[in-house]
Amino acid sequence: MRHLLSADDLDRAAAIEVLDVADQMAATQRREIKKLPTLRGRTVVNLFFEDSTRTRISFEAAAKRLSADVINFSAKGSSVSKGESLKDTALTLEAMGADAVVVRHPVSGAPHRLAHAGWIGGAVVNAGDGTHEHPTQALLDAFTLRRHLVPDIHGIGQDLAGRRVAIVGDVLHSRVARSNVRLLHTLGADVVLVAPPTLLPVGVETWPCATSYDLDAVVRGEHGDLDAVMMLRVQRERMTAAYFPSAREYSRRYGLDGARLAKLPDHALVMHPGPMNRGLEISAEAADSTRSTVVEQVANGVAVRMAVLYLLLAGKTETTAGGTLS
Ligand code: CP
Repeated sequence: MRHLLSADDLDRAAAIEVLDVADQMAATQRREIKKLPTLRGRTVVNLFFEDSTRTRISFEAAAKRLSADVINFSAKGSSVSKGESLKDTALTLEAMGADAVVVRHPVSGAPHRLAHAGWIGGAVVNAGDGTHEHPTQALLDAFTLRRHLVPDIHGIGQDLAGRRVAIVGDVLHSRVARSNVRLLHTLGADVVLVAPPTLLPVGVETWPCATSYDLDAVVRGEHGDLDAVMMLRVQRERMTAAYFPSAREYSRRYGLDGARLAKLPDHALVMHPGPMNRGLEISAEAADSTRSTVVEQVANGVAVRMAVLYLLLAGKTETTAGGTLS
């Protein structure tokens, strides 16, 4: 793996390798081995042109736990606000010796441009580009699903074949949904997207998943018993009233509330990538329920991002900078 730009960069074997390495990383954290020497002397740049809490902090924690040097760049307060281009920003970071650049950008495709324009010599990781993709979110979601749904030795070496996941809400604007549909399909899971017609993208019928406008029917099991329901944030900042006429109506038809929660199979997980709009796409009862993995997903994000940085920078075999993973 040279870069991680899309969930489609990972075939089944590569995706399972990331999840298996993430499991080893999580094991080191559970054993309170807080730092591995694996990436000592390497520099990871977090290049964030859009706000983030979970992704930025977890990439920083992941890089530091692998002993990398970390440079945090936020567009706010940088020369971007004086009009500096992505190219000149990238060349500046390259001059500082970035081995990996983790980029979040409001424009779909910006990480691909960074990876392929020759401005950056190191690895590029897409940390969310516009409405396009967020591959490490999909990986941490798959990691969380596997740990719960394929519990034998944490599902090591296993995919998610036969598991059924509903992804619900604002699919149109969701890079999380796009990456999850791709990765879950690669891992053998069945996905059903549930959304109002105005919040499903043109061409969704070509995606490797089913679609429905009826959350109650999906919760009742009309597409088969669900193993997980993944709620999406309603991205109101990207919408007009034509997409989203009423919060109350949206919540009534597409929100996960206590009544719908009670109708899910007992083992079904409640997921959300965060940040959540409590009371809109998910009720507090659902978000805080014992079957909610929202906080666990954040913790798993550190292990998964450690695995991604490790595989990009140190390779899949014995670490080159000393030490082993386990
Ligand atoms: N899930 C996610 O990408 O969250 P942040 O925007 O806080 O990084």
